[in-house]
Amino acid sequence: MLPGPGRKETLRTEFMKPRILVSRPPSAAAVEELRPHFTVEANEVGIAWSPEELRRRAADKVGLLLSGADRIDGPLLEAAPQLKVVCNVAVGYNNLDLAACTAHGVLATNTPGVLDETTADLTWALLLAAARRLPEADRFVRAGQWQGWRGDGFLGVDVHHATLGIIGLGRIGQAVARRARGFAMKVIYHNRHRLPRKVEEQLGVTYATLPGLLKKADFISLHLPYSPEVHHLIGAREIAQMKPSAILVNAARGGLVDDGALVAALRERRIAAAGLDVFENEPKFNPGFLELDNVALVPHIGSATSATRHAMFRYAVKNLAAVLAGRRPPALLNPAAWKDRRR
Ligand code: 8YV
Repeated sequence: MLPGPGRKETLRTEFMKPRILVSRPPSAAAVEELRPHFTVEANEVGIAWSPEELRRRAADKVGLLLSGADRIDGPLLEAAPQLKVVCNVAVGYNNLDLAACTAHGVLATNTPGVLDETTADLTWALLLAAARRLPEADRFVRAGQWQGWRGDGFLGVDVHHATLGIIGLGRIGQAVARRARGFAMKVIYHNRHRLPRKVEEQLGVTYATLPGLLKKADFISLHLPYSPEVHHLIGAREIAQMKPSAILVNAARGGLVDDGALVAALRERRIAAAGLDVFENEPKFNPGFLELDNVALVPHIGSATSATRHAMFRYAVKNLAAVLAGRRPPALLNPAAWKDRRR
């Protein structure tokens, strides 16, 4: 991960090593690799620290390695006067108040690119699970209810040759689109900016307006970052435009979908099903989902393979190490802070 401690480093005392905080490491081994280079305080119990606890522990640190669920805001930055860099072990960064980071001269980083394929895989797992009713069928088998094969048992819908509508055709959306080829699907997409024709051709995708996509797609999958501008991008009005047979997949961010409206639509079968990795107010999601059979629920595991979580962690450490060595980090989110950064 990092070059081994050289002669200079071995002469360093614990006191001289930069003090860093790791909020949710991917493994104990990943934390151990940091110890020769940093004085590390890590959350090894796997339970999230409360905002107050995070703030208290950040107070004497120069760098933080964070999950996308750890909120960094003005009060935390004020309480941590030595803090130089906050490094998300995530591509999404709506947990970071970038304006506050910049105002405090604190650099912020993320981990783009290393989790695209893994998140696309999970998106497909959810899409297939919802289409073929896997969670419901699994519960049925476990409950000992399987009495014999039935011609009408667990009838789902075909994925192959259906129309997939992707909202947000960035790196992850494109990885999802590439997989759709294997299912001979027609892929339409909506994006803030239409992609160059050549890219559309390579991916085999067709641009659609948002209402056009909602109306035509059999499967709708979200792949855009969260920001207040796209809060409840999919609400009751948008759901009403979908086919009654539509299946909605969200492995992007909670808050893009109005979960209350989705629960109501699924309950009344106004759309067929959903596959969800992310929720509003995680981990306290809308309990209405639990009463429904037509939704596959997983706990924000889009990037959760050992290889990818470690790659994300290494990327975050690279960002952190660059800043502490006085270099610009590879995935800097607030370049405006660079000139007046805390030194
Ligand atoms: C993270 C994610 O695992 O990268 C992201 O934006 O949503 C996930 O890959 C999660 O944010 C925890 O850091």
